[in-house]
Amino acid sequence: MGLNRFSLPVAAAIMMINASLLVQGCLEEERTALLQIKTSMFDPNYMASPLLSWGNDAHCCSWAGVSCDNITGRVNEIDLFDVRGWFIDPSMGDWYLNATLFLPFQELNTLDLGFNDIAGYVANEGFERLSRLNKLESLYLGFNNFNNSILSSLKGLSLKHLNLDYNRLKGSIDTKDFDSLSELEELDLRENEIENFVTSTGFERPGSLDKLEILDLSSNRISDSNLSFLKGLSSLKHLHLDNNQFKGSMEMKEFDSLSKLVELRLQENEIQNFATSTGFERPGSLDKLEILDLSSNRISDSNLSFLKGLSSLKQLYLYNNQLKGPMDMKG
Ligand SMILES: *[C@@H]1O[C@H](CO)[C@@H](O)[C@H](O)[C@H]1NC(C)=O
Ligand SMILES: *[C@@H]1O[C@H](CO)[C@@H](O)[C@H](O)[C@H]1NC(C)=O
Ligand SMILES: *[C@@H]1O[C@H](CO)[C@@H](O)[C@H](O)[C@H]1NC(C)=O
Ligand SMILES: *[C@@H]1O[C@H](CO)[C@@H](O)[C@H](O)[C@H]1NC(C)=O
Ligand SMILES: *[C@@H]1O[C@H](CO)[C@@H](O)[C@H](O)[C@H]1NC(C)=O
Repeated sequence: MGLNRFSLPVAAAIMMINASLLVQGCLEEERTALLQIKTSMFDPNYMASPLLSWGNDAHCCSWAGVSCDNITGRVNEIDLFDVRGWFIDPSMGDWYLNATLFLPFQELNTLDLGFNDIAGYVANEGFERLSRLNKLESLYLGFNNFNNSILSSLKGLSLKHLNLDYNRLKGSIDTKDFDSLSELEELDLRENEIENFVTSTGFERPGSLDKLEILDLSSNRISDSNLSFLKGLSSLKHLHLDNNQFKGSMEMKEFDSLSKLVELRLQENEIQNFATSTGFERPGSLDKLEILDLSSNRISDSNLSFLKGLSSLKQLYLYNNQLKGPMDMKG
């Protein structure tokens, strides 16, 4: 009897020790794979690299930038932001990513490879290799040198968040490249050199980006005021088109299908006016819009009737334009 009373708490204690080992420990296969990543990315000259301490102890879930699921014990997050220290020795030459290195992490949810001056991916070892990782939702590739070909490499991933800001996307982007990214909720393409999106059908094909809520295209080179590629982005809430090359008249019809849009940023362009016969008055057209930023443009027409129909508008920015004299605020 005495033994029984004793053994229950002991069993509980042993279970707790097991649980805490699982929390801190990691699968051998994943530990080995992490050490391969270190070998591949670490530059001994960069003593501030978070990779420096990788391997000092066996519990890879506690390594800098690595997180594990607290139930399965498998790696679910790898943060490799700024691990290469490329700015210390720019003469290191181009470095290409072998995405297959991440294949062992079957529970991987978030991967951050930002700020590493990655020139591209090794031939046949692009992100398409990771299509089996069906938990991978967030991919951060910002501040690298990926070109347009990165987009087709992402086909087959079930991403919700994709960040490619400050890369080398250029010229025309084919909207077809996004076809298989139908789960995407947030797409950040800020600070590239994108000129337009070519498409025969816009994003209107069913399943194509119809869950996208945030699209950031600011600081690109989009000049064509024909924004028909926006059609079909039926879930879009936040659209950033600031600091592009929009000039003259913007056709308001382009925003017609964005009936859920809450925020529209068009500041720092050269927009003079909005061509429209009916303003935003058509039913369903931008009637959820709360924030409209038109600051730093060339709007000189004090006839702001295009604002008619923006029935939810709470914040309107018009500073740094060429508005003079009495304004017709009847709209
Ligand atoms: C396990 O992780 C989940 C999700 O990250 C978190 O909400 C939860 O509090 C964690 N549980 C423990 C026991 O740490
Ligand atoms: C990429 O990494 C995988 C996994 O480590 C390896 O099998 C493959 O040979 C590598 N490819 C190249 C081209 O180095
Ligand atoms: C674009 O990136 C791919 C993959 O990294 C590379 O093979 C190709 O040469 C690059 N193209 C240009 C024009 O730089
Ligand atoms: C805008 O582009 C679409 C698709 O590329 C095209 O069908 C349409 O005619 C264009 N509209 C204007 C006003 O140029
Ligand atoms: C303002 O513009 C609208 C539509 O372009 C037009 O119908 C209206 O007459 C104009 N109002 C004034 C005062 O110019």
